[in-house]
Amino acid sequence: MVTRRSFFAQAGAAAAAVRLMPEMAWAQRAAIKTSGLPKDMVWLNANENPAGIPEVSQAAMREVIPTAYRYHYQEFGDVDAAIAKSEELTPDQILIGAGSSEPLHIIVDAYTSETRPFITVTPAYEGPVEVAKALGRKIILTKLREDYTADVHKLAEEADKSRGGLIYLCNPNNPTSTVTRAKDLDWLVANLPPNTTLLMDEAYIHFVEEPDVKSALPYVRQGKDVIVARTYSKIYGMAGLRVGFVAARPDIIERVRPLRMNIISIVSARAVVAAVKQQQTIVPERRASLARTRRELCGWLRDRSVKFVEPHANFLMIDCGRNAREFIAKMPPLGVAPGRPFPPLDNLLRVTIGTDQEMAKFRDVFWKVYKA
Ligand SMILES: Cc1ncc(COP(=O)(O)O)c(C=O)c1O
Repeated sequence: MVTRRSFFAQAGAAAAAVRLMPEMAWAQRAAIKTSGLPKDMVWLNANENPAGIPEVSQAAMREVIPTAYRYHYQEFGDVDAAIAKSEELTPDQILIGAGSSEPLHIIVDAYTSETRPFITVTPAYEGPVEVAKALGRKIILTKLREDYTADVHKLAEEADKSRGGLIYLCNPNNPTSTVTRAKDLDWLVANLPPNTTLLMDEAYIHFVEEPDVKSALPYVRQGKDVIVARTYSKIYGMAGLRVGFVAARPDIIERVRPLRMNIISIVSARAVVAAVKQQQTIVPERRASLARTRRELCGWLRDRSVKFVEPHANFLMIDCGRNAREFIAKMPPLGVAPGRPFPPLDNLLRVTIGTDQEMAKFRDVFWKVYKA
C-alpha cells in the first residue's frame, strides 16, 4: 500500500530521476564504444564546432580561474545584462542555464501537462521529447513534409485539436538540417491556437545563409506567446562550457525562473560575456568558414550522385542507399564516428561538418563503405 509519506518519497525520487534521466539517455546514445578504436578517431557525431572556444573567451577564463573559488553571485546581474543586450533583449526577458538543455527542460516541464501536449515533428532534436516522455506528458509527433521540412499547418492543427499545447520547433531542425522559412514562421505565430505557446529552438540559426530564414526573437520582443532557445555550444564552440538561454516575455520568464537549478559556472559565464562582445566578427566569420566546408562536401556528394538533404546547419544527412544503422557501424573502426541512426529516417546518416582535414578523412571512409 502506498502511504501518503511513501508516496511523497517515491514522487521525490521519481522527480529526481526525471531531472537526470534524459541527459543520461542522450549521453548513452551518443556513446560509441572506444575500446579498440583508432587513436586519431575523427568525431563527427555531436554537431560540435571544431573552431573551438574563441581566443577572447579563453583569455577571459584564464583570468577568472584564480578567483573561481568564490561563487561570484554578485556578478550574475551583469552576466544576464550582457547576454540580454547582445540580442537586444532586457535581463527580465532571458533565463540562462547549463547549455540550452536546462532551460529547454524547464519550459517543457512548465508548459506541458497530461492534457496540454508537447507537439513537435519527427524526427526533431530528442532532448525535449525525452523530457516530455519522462514527465509523463502527452506527446504529439507530426510527420515532416516530403522535403524534410516541418509542416507548420499540421503543428497548429494538432494544438487546436488539443485545445492548446507547447509547439516545439527547431530552426534549423536537428537531425535534418532543414529550415522553417520566414513565411511559415510568420504564419504559425499569426495562427497560434488559443492556450498555445511556440518554443523555437535556434541552436543552429547562426549557420543559416538563406535570406528567407529569420529568428523568432522579434516575436519575443513584441510580447507574443513565443519562446526562443539559444545556445553557446554551436557557433560559439563552447559545448563543454554549458551555457544557453531561453528568451521570452517577462511574465513567462518570471514564471519559470524558480525552476532553475542554479547559476552557471563563473568561468563559463566570463567566456560567453567575452565572446558576445565580439559577436559581430565571431559569428559571420565562423558561418562563412563552415559554409565553405559544407559546400565542398555537398559538391563532392553531387559529383558522385550521392543524395543528401540540402543542409543549413553545421551537419547534413546523407542517403546511404541502404540501412544507415549498419553503414554507421562500419565507420568507427576505420577512424570516423558519424551521428547515430535517426529513425524513421532509416537510410540517412547524419554527419557534423568538421575541419577540412576531418572532412577529407570522412570522404575517404564514407566512400570506402559506400562502394563496398
Ligand atoms: C537543436 C538542439 N537544441 C539544443 C541542444 C542542446 O545543446 P546544449 O545543451 O549544449 O545547448 C542541441 C544539442 O545538440 C540541439 O541539437
